[in-house]
Amino acid sequence: MAAATVRLGVVGWPVAHSRSPIMFRHWFDRYGIDAIYEAVPVPPQEIDRFFAGLPESGLRGVNVTLPHKGAAARCVEADAVAARLGSVNTIWLDDDGRACGTSSDGAGFVKSLDASAPDWRVGGRAVVLGAGGAAASVADALVSEGQHVLIANRTAAKAQRLAAVVGAQPLAWEDLDGALSGASLLVNATSLGMMGSAPLPVDPAALGPHATVADLVYTPLETPLLAAARACGLATVDGLGMLFFQAQTGFERWFGRTPEVDEALRRAVAATL
Ligand code: ATR
Repeated sequence: MAAATVRLGVVGWPVAHSRSPIMFRHWFDRYGIDAIYEAVPVPPQEIDRFFAGLPESGLRGVNVTLPHKGAAARCVEADAVAARLGSVNTIWLDDDGRACGTSSDGAGFVKSLDASAPDWRVGGRAVVLGAGGAAASVADALVSEGQHVLIANRTAAKAQRLAAVVGAQPLAWEDLDGALSGASLLVNATSLGMMGSAPLPVDPAALGPHATVADLVYTPLETPLLAAARACGLATVDGLGMLFFQAQTGFERWFGRTPEVDEALRRAVAATL
């Protein structure tokens, strides 16, 4: 008898915009895997029940997107990084059928830096803009990589709280320009620069000549920040890399192998932006 088709998905609300189905279907085609990966819309009032029913759902695992990453961290067996951040984006079932989760966003971000700007670690001082969920994952991973991390956010209290959680240093938004000259990495983890929103009021020319600039925003793929950084001759890292590399973790958990992040994957997803 043929093995049953593996079922997977991404759970969110709304979730129709998610590029995860495109990524995973690309990998299933490439590796000849009999699996389906769908967007699974679940409203907030039903999410706890959804996670509780996961072991009997027929799904091998799920990715989790907004606004359910926090609920996932409460409802499944969270590993150390997921528990620290209160955020889970990848869930699998262990040998006893228990739902387990991790947060692969930060590790995915570091892999995207390694792939696009391999010298990013030199200098050791990173400035992260923003203090939401994406900023938390990135700042936490950079601290784990031994970087000295400064966090600046429009709402200063949120930067202070996040800095305390991850072991970083808060930086007043007004002091940003002064801090840039000593930074070797600048990461935009705010929504500024996204299509339809204001550009980020930060000039990458204030950074040193060997700095790297990364933007988590990927619509547009080249944000005004990245365009300005490129014009200064700085190394740049766009937001698609983090999306690709965080997804590898789920594939590894579900299929026991690491899928390749390459130009073909980038083309498949970029065509939908
Ligand atoms: P995510 O989970 O994707 O990180 P989020 O939690 O909504 O999303 O965080 C969005 C980030 O963009 C926040 O750091 C937010 O700053 P505040 O904490 O002050 O709200 C930042 N942001 C959004 N609009 C901004 C603006 N106009 N100027 C500066 N920062 C902005």
